[in-house]
Amino acid sequence: MLKGKNIILGISGGIAAYKSVTLLRLLVKAGAEVQVVITPNGKEFITPVTLSSLSGRPVVSEFFSANTGEWHSHVSLGVWADAMIVAPATASTLAKMASGVADNMLVTTYLSARCPVFVAPAMDLDMMAHPTTARNLATLRADGVHVIEPEVGELASHLVGRGRMEEPEKIAAVLDDFFSEKQTLAGKKVLISAGPTYERIDPVRFIGNFSTGKMGYAIAEEAASRGAEVTLVSGPTALKTSHAGIRVVDVESAAEMLAACRAAFDTADIAIMAAAVADYAPAHPFDHKIKRETDGIDTIELVKNPDIAATLGAMKRSNQRLVGFALETDDAVAHGRDKMARKNLDMIVVNSLADAGAGFGTDTNKITILTNGGGEYVFPLKPKREVAVDIMDHIERI
Ligand code: C5P
Repeated sequence: MLKGKNIILGISGGIAAYKSVTLLRLLVKAGAEVQVVITPNGKEFITPVTLSSLSGRPVVSEFFSANTGEWHSHVSLGVWADAMIVAPATASTLAKMASGVADNMLVTTYLSARCPVFVAPAMDLDMMAHPTTARNLATLRADGVHVIEPEVGELASHLVGRGRMEEPEKIAAVLDDFFSEKQTLAGKKVLISAGPTYERIDPVRFIGNFSTGKMGYAIAEEAASRGAEVTLVSGPTALKTSHAGIRVVDVESAAEMLAACRAAFDTADIAIMAAAVADYAPAHPFDHKIKRETDGIDTIELVKNPDIAATLGAMKRSNQRLVGFALETDDAVAHGRDKMARKNLDMIVVNSLADAGAGFGTDTNKITILTNGGGEYVFPLKPKREVAVDIMDHIERI
């Protein structure tokens, strides 16, 4: 999909600039025309000769050419491009982009770009975690810039944390997806569980939880919008979906949810278990309303519910992908990894009740994606609709 596309590759001054050479090579190999715009600091990390040799175009860095005195027009570049990707985007470049400090060709070009703009941040973990950086990224997002989240891993400082630039192959894939007009999940069947389960104590009482189903429904909408045929097995929620690609199977209890999920799993390519399934159910539900005077119970005997995700994990074929969720209150990542292994999942989405705005009932969520290949991706607080996009993007890559 990158064939014939005009792409501006902005490179700012970070050690991850060495990866931009690979990114440039991948974009050129895919048939894109790439114009490199590099900041003065970027040139300290990577030489323009390497970049111009690979792109087949002189690298733009200064406002004026020292030899000819010629002025480089950022305006014509901004009009020429189908997309602009800034990789690496340092804290300083992000700050300048967010506030419009156009003191170099890269930011000036950004300000005149009419095309979609992507940034792949790369910096030290403390700079990444600084509220200033978070604020600048939030501003850029609000301005419509696509942020390709950095990974957690070892940094140039040898410290381990969030701030590693996403790998060039993945950045190229993000751009490719963006230009792809085809529906990336066309012909795929996706099974999604959502909402709480209700475990009956008697005809009027149940054991349940505070899940609203918002996250699972948002994922269902996103998968359907990518052309998937979605089966949404939903516990009791107040939500509705009108997407033609979504078939809703309403269930109440964990046992019903298991039966519906098992039935749909066989033909599913991807299964995403976003439901908050009750761990226990009353062993002997009453068939009449329990009366204080005559029934006189003060304990309810419970039995363990089946683990739906683990059941599907045991049935999983090698061409199927199974994704779970883990809502944790402490040590979220370690518990998430443990669950992923125990349930034979390919990916797990971890969120913590300790994060404000994350978890049940909110319209936002703050997630970390863990993949069974060892990947760990931390995302900022976002609307659940956008979180669903991040989740589906990652599922498509595993
Ligand atoms: O073990 P825990 O309940 O935290 O695991 C959460 C993940 O497992 C979620 O994906 C959830 O939908 C799934 N799960 C399940 N059946 C259960 C319990 C959890 O499918 N009985």
